[in-house]
Amino acid sequence: MGVLGSRVAWAWLVQLLLLQQLAGASHVVYDDLELQAAAATADGVPPSIVDSELRTGYHFQPPKNWINAPMYYKGWYHLFYQYNPKGAVWGNIVWAHSVSRDLINWVALKPAIEPSIRADKYGCWSGSATMMADGTPVIMYTGVNRPDVNYQVQNVALPRNGSDPLLREWVKPGHNPVIVPEGGINATQFRDPTTAWRGADGHWRLLVGSLAGQSRGVAYVYRSRDFRRWTRAAQPLHSAPTGMWECPDFYPVTADGRREGVDTSSAVVDAAAAARVKYVLKNSLDLRRYDYYTVGTYDRKAERYVPDDPAGDEHHLRYDYGNFYASKTFYDPAKRRRILWGWANESDTAADDVAKGWAGIQAIPRKVWLDPSGKQLLQWPIEEVERLRGKWPVILKDRVVKPGEHVEVTGLQTAQVFLFASVIL
Ligand SMILES: *[C@@H]1O[C@H](CO)[C@@H](O)[C@H](O)[C@H]1NC(C)=O
Ligand SMILES: *[C@@H]1O[C@H](CO)[C@@H](O)[C@H](O)[C@H]1NC(C)=O
Ligand SMILES: *[C@@H]1O[C@H](CO)[C@@H](O)[C@H](O)[C@H]1NC(C)=O
Repeated sequence: MGVLGSRVAWAWLVQLLLLQQLAGASHVVYDDLELQAAAATADGVPPSIVDSELRTGYHFQPPKNWINAPMYYKGWYHLFYQYNPKGAVWGNIVWAHSVSRDLINWVALKPAIEPSIRADKYGCWSGSATMMADGTPVIMYTGVNRPDVNYQVQNVALPRNGSDPLLREWVKPGHNPVIVPEGGINATQFRDPTTAWRGADGHWRLLVGSLAGQSRGVAYVYRSRDFRRWTRAAQPLHSAPTGMWECPDFYPVTADGRREGVDTSSAVVDAAAAARVKYVLKNSLDLRRYDYYTVGTYDRKAERYVPDDPAGDEHHLRYDYGNFYASKTFYDPAKRRRILWGWANESDTAADDVAKGWAGIQAIPRKVWLDPSGKQLLQWPIEEVERLRGKWPVILKDRVVKPGEHVEVTGLQTAQVFLFASVIL
């Protein structure tokens, strides 16, 4: 971390404070902390209560809030994430961009999407990437277009040069925004478009998370032939009385317990493939701040999703029972797997985050697939993390640990430990 310098760390931190509020119905702005931050940045060195050695070494740890559009393109994994390069001003939210060959070692590039048009002048919030039929990606993201209220519209951005595997430059076509909150949609609760999938009719579909009335979480379906003109389907894909649905994610998983991932579009196109999959609908519940999912069936004709467990929307299944939010999955064609990636809040107070100089990390990416029972998902850290293990792991085997018992692990001399435990109950 030393190389990054305190200035950068500080900018990250301020961004996090701002971003944590983006998703909330009420936007708490920490004016006092922002002032301190501005002063500290001016002086160069913010105070720190925590040794930088305590930063994580294995996790991707940018400033961070939620993840945008992780994807694989021409040999590179791309991670886009929310970032405020100017540090202290609400409304500069950009899509920062890092690339990796192995999901472990990352190279930071310049931001991919920054406010530059009327339709995103006050923020480039979360979104997703979709691969077009010709193999080039398109990003759809939420733009905020008013200074006084977080009025949300959906925009697209395209790579300037599809031959560049690093996709360094993105352009916004003049027809943005492509989706606006009309027909009674709450414009301040209308965001985070999903990866689109193509139906047998060749038309694209995607979801936008929203809130109907004061308490109904909704995933609206939008359809398009050309990714440019979008029409909302009469019925949402699904809804439930859970409060706002942020960062919806909707994807197929093989129904027979195989660990192979399924591309979002391929499962829909032919009927035989469609019969072999179940669907997962995940929503990040703004009220609870956790990621909940159900497993169910996608009725392609009615354009509806039906959870297998009729009560499943009542918060039955979570991806993770720790701190894990605003996750996204993507299909990795290189290893034919579906990868789940979430953001872990470190649960510190805002003041402690300020003092230590950072806040928030990306959880280790996980491969995700359906349990043979069909009732829940299974997850495992991606195999690439095994490369991070030292040559001489310390193995503690067949130890019975009683409740409350402390077990000392000896023979370690490092600030970074990858703890791998199987627990038999
Ligand atoms: C597009 O990217 C490729 C690969 O990086 C590069 O060789 C080519 O010069 C680029 N084209 C333009 C117009 O920038
Ligand atoms: C939109 O959602 C916000 C947050 O829940 C709520 O306060 C507001 O009343 C809603 N607006 C409308 C028109 O329903
Ligand atoms: C982050 O941590 C704070 C403090 O523990 C908590 O209030 C908040 O709900 C957490 N989660 C998210 C997703 O913001």
